[in-house]
Amino acid sequence: MPRPTRIRRKVFVARAIDNTALERLRAATAVTVWRGEMPPSASALRSALADADAVLSMITDKIDASVIGDAPRLRVISNLGVGVDNIDLEAATRAGIAVGHTPGVLTDATADLAFGLLMATARRIAEADRHVRAGKWRTWGPMTMLGRDVHSSTIGLIGFGAIGQAMARRAMGFGMRVLYLKHSSSKRTPQRDESEIANVSAVSLPRLLAQSDYLSIHVPLTAKTRHMIGVREFALMKHGAILINTARGAVVDQTAMVAALKSGRLAGAGLDVTDPEPIANRDPLLRFDNVVITPHIGSASIATRASMAAIAVDNVLAALSGRIPRWCANPRVRLRPGAL
Ligand code: DGY
Repeated sequence: MPRPTRIRRKVFVARAIDNTALERLRAATAVTVWRGEMPPSASALRSALADADAVLSMITDKIDASVIGDAPRLRVISNLGVGVDNIDLEAATRAGIAVGHTPGVLTDATADLAFGLLMATARRIAEADRHVRAGKWRTWGPMTMLGRDVHSSTIGLIGFGAIGQAMARRAMGFGMRVLYLKHSSSKRTPQRDESEIANVSAVSLPRLLAQSDYLSIHVPLTAKTRHMIGVREFALMKHGAILINTARGAVVDQTAMVAALKSGRLAGAGLDVTDPEPIANRDPLLRFDNVVITPHIGSASIATRASMAAIAVDNVLAALSGRIPRWCANPRVRLRPGAL
């Protein structure tokens, strides 16, 4: 008698990811990988999800209520990233779809980049590199390329979850005074006990803005945090502050940031994220020498992306076997039964 064939669940992987993780997924499921450098278009994503049991999505894939409504078999959206602002969480929860994400493993890589942007902006590293390449290095100059001290200055952390705390540890290594604004969603990510980090002070937003030489953003993008740093907040900042953003571009009102840069209130910005992404070629931010912009690479280290892919695969496999993934952004979801 022929053996009954095991149903292999269909998984759509929305971009090529680490091979070890991908092979583990292939061993257990029927995988289709989107091989383009660019993300699938909205219609390609919709048609890929029409008969998929799982999607391993990227932060560039917008999965809204309408895409979810057209994906009747989908049990898990496993996002390669800690942020899930590209996904309609409520619609997924209503539909019985788990939303996986990858916190924890990217904490240090993201804090490393945030600190790198802080250094690059304060000490004008990118601008100095452009200066050298343009053949402008004619001599050592007593007033050439003067930047700002990082050591002995004050940093204000907007958000004190895992990444904010990792930033605090780096800042303390540089002898900085650390202030932070606690954000309610900080509890969602794995983190050390705050009491482990001595000499940091929780303060109100106005005090944080008034006293910090450097401000670094570490909150997720939600309806509450969108444009959390706008005209009013820039006006409250210490004159000559530097803003670092490795979270999401839309946490900052970019028009207000450009005005603050023009007026000199803001002495510089180090941005790994912009609104929109990618930044438009004609965006006014690109005209400032004191703004350093990287293309959303906070978690882009080889080891970190491999760990993220491993967790994203774990999250898919857990949900396909009927379990709530370990790293789940909607842990109260009641998983829909797997379709045959
Ligand atoms: C995230 O994880 O949300 C980052 O923005 C991409 O790594």
